[in-house]
This record gives sequence, C-alpha cells and structure tokens, in this order.
Amino acid sequence: MRRASAIYPGTFDPLTNGHLDIIERSSKLFGRVVVAILLNPQKDPLFTVEERCDLIRASLSPSTDNVEVDVFDGLLADYANQQSAEVIIRGIRAVSDYEYELQMALMNRRLQPEIETLFMIPAERYSYLSSGLVREIAEHGGSINGLVPGPVEDALHAHFK
Ligand code: PNS
Repeated sequence: MRRASAIYPGTFDPLTNGHLDIIERSSKLFGRVVVAILLNPQKDPLFTVEERCDLIRASLSPSTDNVEVDVFDGLLADYANQQSAEVIIRGIRAVSDYEYELQMALMNRRLQPEIETLFMIPAERYSYLSSGLVREIAEHGGSINGLVPGPVEDALHAHFK
C-alpha cells in the first residue's frame, strides 16, 4: 500500500488527538494521505475551513511529510476520484459508528467502485473522543488538555475566552 494514495475526509471542527492518531497511522501505510475538510456551510462550524486547515497543518509532526491538507465540496467519491486516490480512510471508535459508516462506505462504493473504504481504529485512549464533545467542554471552561493537539487547544481557549 506504500505507493497508494488515501483520502482521510471529515469536518475536523476541530481536529482531535483521535484524528491525529489516524493520520499518523495512515501516513505509515500509504505513500500519500490527503486530509480533506468538507466545505459545509450548513453545519455552522466553530472554525472556518481556513482556520481548520491551518490548525491541522500546525498539528502535524515532521514525520508525516507525506500528508497534505485540502478542502473539498460536493461528493466525496468524486473528490477521491479527482485526487486519484485508491482508498478512503474512516476512523471507527465504537460499534455505534459502524452503521452510518457502513452505509456511507457502500454508497461511496456504488458511486466509485474502484475506491475502497478502509476503517481504522484509533488508540483506545481516544475511543470516546469527538470534536463535538471537545467543543462543548471548551465552551464551558473544562479541561481539554490531552484531547486535542496544542495549536487546537490554544485556538479553542482563544475562541471561548
Ligand atoms: O467528520 P464527519 O462529519 O464524520 O465527516 C463526514 C464526511 C465529510 C466524510 C461526509 O459527510 C461526506 O463524505 N460528505 C460529502 C458529501 C458526500 O459525499 N455525501 C455522500 C456520502 S455517501
């Protein structure tokens, strides 16, 4: 798989240590990994896509030099095809993620039969972590230390100060 390209899509509002764990694991498996942020104005995000891009880039370690950050709009299957990606990566935490992810994976396969979805499991210490919970904790002044990379922690503190 070392020569293959993979897309790791998501909202990343904001990036968590769970996302970063998946990025680092996938960068060891693939020749190129594109972290692709969905441009989705309906979701009323906390951070703009530009801010999310910058936060992801600032959080990547130098060892992940085969990782790119990009923004996409429209269908993920089309974007993955445009990027000549062979694989779509999705992180799965608990069984509850599985049903939605299975539906998406099968629909993406129907749209682009040549592209495989690969489910990856983050380190168990991140298995209960989500961007939504992190946003809520930060909003109410709780500690988010260890849940998100340093640049994201600073940005959340600045946002809710
Ligand atoms: O981080 P998220 O919110 O779980 O990511 C969801 C995402 C961005 C992967 C999904 O909503 C998506 O792929 N959206 C693009 C539109 C699309 O392709 N929809 C059909 C999916 S089968």
